[in-house]
Amino acid sequence: MKPVKIGLLGLGTVGCGTVMVLGRNGDEIARRAGRGIVVVAAAVRDLDRERDCALNGVRLTDEPDSVVDDPEVEVVVELMGGAEPARTLVLRAIAAGKHVVTANKALIALHGNEIFARAHERGVMVAFEAAVAGGIPIIKALREGLAGNRIDWVAGIINGTGNFILTEMRDHGRDFGDVLAEAQRLGYAEADPTFDVEGIDAAHKLCILAAIAFGIPLQFERIHTEGITGITREDVTYAAELGYSIKHLGIARRAAGGFELRVHPTLIPERRLIANVNGVMNAVLVQADAVGPTLYYGAGAGAEATASAVVADLVDVVRVLTADPENRVPHLAFQPGALSDLPVLPMAEVRTSFYLRLRARDRPGVLADITRVLGAHCISIEAILQREPDPDRGEATIIILTHQVREGDVDEAISELGGLPHLTSPVTRIRMEPLSR
Ligand code: NAP
Ligand code: HSE
Repeated sequence: MKPVKIGLLGLGTVGCGTVMVLGRNGDEIARRAGRGIVVVAAAVRDLDRERDCALNGVRLTDEPDSVVDDPEVEVVVELMGGAEPARTLVLRAIAAGKHVVTANKALIALHGNEIFARAHERGVMVAFEAAVAGGIPIIKALREGLAGNRIDWVAGIINGTGNFILTEMRDHGRDFGDVLAEAQRLGYAEADPTFDVEGIDAAHKLCILAAIAFGIPLQFERIHTEGITGITREDVTYAAELGYSIKHLGIARRAAGGFELRVHPTLIPERRLIANVNGVMNAVLVQADAVGPTLYYGAGAGAEATASAVVADLVDVVRVLTADPENRVPHLAFQPGALSDLPVLPMAEVRTSFYLRLRARDRPGVLADITRVLGAHCISIEAILQREPDPDRGEATIIILTHQVREGDVDEAISELGGLPHLTSPVTRIRMEPLSR
């Protein structure tokens, strides 16, 4: 059978990784897909830029429309990133009846509802395995492997750049900016790296995971998002003394009355496997009713690791080229007419545990004042640690771990604590998850 011809939109880190993997493993891939897969055209911005991959016979252009419209191209692979012009190009490909593979989580999180509706109407596939957790086949696992389960929650380290920065800062005392620059050199970071460090990239990915896990529409704007820029070495050290690691987690949980969708730094017990996921590695822990917990681990970013997921999608697309659209796996796992309309809960209604760090003057009764405020807001304490007071400043650092509480009560307690006369700094709070069941 003739090979399937594909066109790439973008030939940067992931685009070149895809060309290299298709080139090196072409025979194995053809044995799996039933047909070869050949890149015939690629669009870039700068035609003069040197590429990291050999382009034997690939038509290079700075006009992405010409790749989409190329009659030879059967599958369009979008690897340029960002919402526009990616959205317009993908919709154009769909309108032309072409299947699409993309690694673009921003595109899917922001415009996926529209894109999947158009694809459904036109009977084409839009595959996006590489959009979440790089090379880990988490979309396939959730959408197909766990299809018999009710998913209770998903918690993941889903930004490789952020995890790389936190690991290097903790293990080697390196400077934040210095490690971020290295992540950019290694091709891990987004074109705008604030997406990585402010949690936006992780929120894009969590939005997709939640839709597939629970059968809810993509709703990026409802995700509570915090990044890693506020994490200090001091908190990393105290957390370690208490037996916890601080990780940047995306959490999607089915709760009473709705869903929790949140991305933020989180204390997790060091004995959990996921607490030991370091560097650019990602991991997604899924709690499901029948199978229990399952953990998916692998490289979350990088040229060939991401290409591994892009090529797997290409193989899926090639395998179903001749299958009826009704018989394919639905884009968001659940049938389009069977999505849940339960709401995403406001953060004040989320129930979780907290690490609180306070600095206070070393005076009698200070601790009693603090615990009185917490008690008045129904916040029960699991552990408390007071560091030796600093003799020069006469101040003590107090670390408190709470039991599971309502976030709205913690907000109110922190606001009241701010009015105590002996508190000398704002309260630092980091959410804490046991990730047991
Ligand atoms: P990249 O290295 O910046 O590559 C982007 C490519 O798109 C470049 O070749 C660029 O051309 C081209 N491009 C951008 N805008 C264009 C336009 N308007 N017209 C024509 N060409 C255009 O990005 P990347 O790291 O490969 O990421 C690509 C996508 O994969 C993004 O959605 C990203 O979020 C996602 N992703 C990346 C990774 C990773 O590890 N890097 C992992 C998973 C998913 P020039 O080369 O000429 O500038
Ligand atoms: N910038 C992203 C990350 C790329 O660091 O995880 C992979 O999606």
